[in-house]
Amino acid sequence: MKMKKWLSIALTATMAVSALGAVPAAADDAADYSDKKVGVCIYQFADNFMTLFREELAKYLVEQGFSEDNITIQDGKNDINEQANQIDAFIADGVDALIINLVDPSNAPTITDKVVEAGIPLVYINREPEESEEARWEENGWAVTYVGCDARQSGTYQGEIIADLGMDTVDLNGNGKIDYVMVMGDPANSDAQNRTEYSIKALEDAELEVNPLRDTQIGNWQQEEGNRIVTNDLAQFADDLEVVFCNNDAMALGALEAIKAAGRTVGEDIFLVGVDALDEAIDDVIDGTMTGTVFNNHFAQADGAVDAAIAFLNGEEQDVQQYCDYVKLTQENAEEIKALLQ
Ligand code: GAL
Repeated sequence: MKMKKWLSIALTATMAVSALGAVPAAADDAADYSDKKVGVCIYQFADNFMTLFREELAKYLVEQGFSEDNITIQDGKNDINEQANQIDAFIADGVDALIINLVDPSNAPTITDKVVEAGIPLVYINREPEESEEARWEENGWAVTYVGCDARQSGTYQGEIIADLGMDTVDLNGNGKIDYVMVMGDPANSDAQNRTEYSIKALEDAELEVNPLRDTQIGNWQQEEGNRIVTNDLAQFADDLEVVFCNNDAMALGALEAIKAAGRTVGEDIFLVGVDALDEAIDDVIDGTMTGTVFNNHFAQADGAVDAAIAFLNGEEQDVQQYCDYVKLTQENAEEIKALLQ
């Protein structure tokens, strides 16, 4: 059997076969799902990472035997009402399966109720509903699951990338502390909450003293926001700013522009980490203009979501929470991962 791309990436990068168990591998010979209608709701098309995710979803659905004509992918435009209308329309249209990237995870109970009532299997992606909500699916034996990554792991990897450099390297102003700023994604999103918390926790777990130069600021996953926030930080904190943590690469790329504009050099007088492993960010890691990032495996997540929808269509039961692994990406393995992603 031909190994899936994401599977080989995870194998090479982590050598942890057990970690792959969460997402079922699909059979090589695609079955025929061409008469099945699939509705996909994306929280917002204008999001770099979700664009990669969406492209893989569309591609893999067709590879698994769904017909392009029966796949509809909607842009929620980051608007709760817009997305609610799209879901209502999918239900009215009688789709056979729904894959939903929520605009607001706190809406999960209402949406789940509607979809379950209509008898449609439901796979949530990217924005994980609350644990109490997932527990409800389990208790009721509903055909609802969440396929994604555990965001705590990505935060931990970000912190470890900095901790591994050692205090002597990072503590440029010699005050015995890691002076940092945090640029957060959408605060309602558990990826943002967990990355913010666990990146710093990893430094503390490595027994490094940390010093936030200001309160966490919200960049909503957007490059321009990352740029605006870090431009201000550099003006305000100047050489005291040692590490810039960004919850994703888009904001880190914005931060990098700000760093360059301020005449600072990543790896020499400042450190910068993101998450996602966008192409541009991988190139920056290779060039040393970004300290590191974390590969947010959109292949595993998109393929896993489709596999989960198929399993429901075949009447199979599955766990309410299906995680795949992140991969830590630094200059050491960036070339290798880049080659695997091409
Ligand atoms: C995260 C990703 C971000 C953004 C967000 C949207 O997992 O790292 O870049 O796409 O999802 O919910």
